[in-house]
Amino acid sequence: MTQPSRRDFLKLVRAGLLYLSGALAIGGLLRFLDFDAHPAPKTEFDLGPASDFPLGSRTLLADPPAVLLHTQSGFSALSLVCTHLGCAVEPSADGFACPCHGSRFDAAGGVLRGPAQKSLPALRVELTTDGRLLLHTD
Ligand code: FES
Repeated sequence: MTQPSRRDFLKLVRAGLLYLSGALAIGGLLRFLDFDAHPAPKTEFDLGPASDFPLGSRTLLADPPAVLLHTQSGFSALSLVCTHLGCAVEPSADGFACPCHGSRFDAAGGVLRGPAQKSLPALRVELTTDGRLLLHTD
């Protein structure tokens, strides 16, 4: 068996580098073409075990901005995103108040004072078979 010449070795290295750079370029191109600049927003949130929210509790959630209620009739939730222009409303003595333009909502999310015209939307709460709460924002 003959030893490859220096020239053959350099040809082999050059071809290997050429194939490697081609593969990397194709991989990068595929990633570029598959890039989603606006991925769908998350609409399901795992709140954890339902036992963490005892009967009568009223829990403010940060992500998503919502309040989770546990009453005799079960779990329910209200979005805390103002229906006027989307600011986060805050708890107040009579329900919820929007710090941006002064809308006020009662404890059930109904409009007490505008400029908001629509009530705070109810969010769907699901109790899974393993006892966890899922909050749906869609
Ligand atoms: S965003 Fe809430 S009142 Fe305008």
